[in-house]
Amino acid sequence: MSQRTAIVTGAGIGLGRATALALAEANYHVIVTDILDDEGAQVVAEIQKCGLSAEFHHVDVTNTEAVNRVLTDVLDRFVTLEALVLNAGIARTLPLSSLEDADWDQTLDVNLKGMMRVFRASLPGLLEADKSSVVCISSIVGAVLGWSEHIPYVASKGGVMGLVRSAALEFASKGIRVNGIAPGVIRSAQTLDPINSLGEEGLAAFAQTVPLGRVGNPEDIADVAVFLLSDKARYLTGQVIAVDGGTTVSL
Ligand SMILES: NC(=O)c1ccc[n+]([C@@H]2O[C@H](COP(=O)([O-])OP(=O)(O)OC[C@H]3O[C@@H](n4cnc5c(N)ncnc54)[C@H](O)[C@@H]3O)[C@@H](O)[C@H]2O)c1
Repeated sequence: MSQRTAIVTGAGIGLGRATALALAEANYHVIVTDILDDEGAQVVAEIQKCGLSAEFHHVDVTNTEAVNRVLTDVLDRFVTLEALVLNAGIARTLPLSSLEDADWDQTLDVNLKGMMRVFRASLPGLLEADKSSVVCISSIVGAVLGWSEHIPYVASKGGVMGLVRSAALEFASKGIRVNGIAPGVIRSAQTLDPINSLGEEGLAAFAQTVPLGRVGNPEDIADVAVFLLSDKARYLTGQVIAVDGGTTVSL
């Protein structure tokens, strides 16, 4: 049985959902994980309806014990893990003047420490695979730009850059490639939230500034993730690719 196994975190909606669907189409058995149980189950149903292969597991990336338990169960059954997409993330508007320690901790716990937790628990399967590949979702804010009133978010996404570069070196000789994607502005529940992000009007206004003339779709990110995870990217490790319609080179 030569089907490869992939895990995606935060895969019930948005970029994670699109990536799970694209990986299933690329013939991976996809382990869809999220704290959104109904949405995650729907993604699995959508995949299975196309005759492709997936299963859902509730995984809160802030819960070390739960992450370890689910990964142990999955790796007991599949042994090897060929692809891992560390996507779960939250964005909150948090001005520094009123920033509570708990707000800082929550954003870093999901966006950066959560990534480390799932990566660490996945290591036995990634190492057991002949070749394996990890994609971490950063952001153009954090990778290149800042974002006013979002210091914790931007700091977490900058931290992802460090995680990618260092893990790439730590595991290069062991057959694991580690790369990142820094999405620009992509239409999703996150960016449609007018309190914590741009909202519908903000997205329309931002689209005017993007050299390619539109904000991104989740599929724009999913397709690059599938490429980075594939053997077509076999000589690529330690890089974070901006997928932003030209935003960061236009400034
Ligand atoms: N949309 C954008 O423009 C954009 C830009 C740059 C980076 N990103 C990053 O891409 C990733 C996906 O973003 P999106 O736009 O699809 O957001 P989204 O809000 O639509 O989806 C985020 C997903 O993460 C999950 N999640 C949140 N907390 C979790 C937890 N504790 N454990 C497990 N899952 C959890 C959510 O349930 C959801 O499924 C995030 O890391 C985000 O920061 C998004």
